[in-house]
Amino acid sequence: MTDYKLLASQLRALAEDEPWFIPVMSNASALLFDNMENLNWAGFYLMNKGSLVLGPFQGKVACIRIEVGRGVCGTCVKEDRTQLVKDVHSFPGHIACDSASNSEIVVPIHKNGEVVAVLDIDSPLIGRFDEEDKEGLEAFVKVLEELVDFSTDY
Ligand code: SME
Repeated sequence: MTDYKLLASQLRALAEDEPWFIPVMSNASALLFDNMENLNWAGFYLMNKGSLVLGPFQGKVACIRIEVGRGVCGTCVKEDRTQLVKDVHSFPGHIACDSASNSEIVVPIHKNGEVVAVLDIDSPLIGRFDEEDKEGLEAFVKVLEELVDFSTDY
């Protein structure tokens, strides 16, 4: 099992050191990709001009823009809640960036009450993610919500 407590404390240390979203999200995706088993993609999409745009990630080249309401990521923004998808092939409108993906979890990230980004994790295994992953990743995202500086004027 993934040690989500350890990952959240490692993320906290990294974000306290340097809160700007690019380094924090880059290291956050590396932390997750390195420490969770059976993943083929872990990263972020950020809200930009009304749709999601690709952010820091680990894994294969991915689609760049996703409209709100489209795919698992866009549905996460529209419904403002975590999407736990046991089998992506039965999710209407799933966007297949990597044909190896079979299950997926997407968690919304908020700032000032609005969804500003999503954490997206894919696995080649069907049913890779469960409630424990959902809770662990939502706690991980809380650290980002608390500490990350999402400003673009760096
Ligand atoms: N599968 C996602 C698209 C992003 S990739 O998984 C990296 C979706 O349906 O929104």
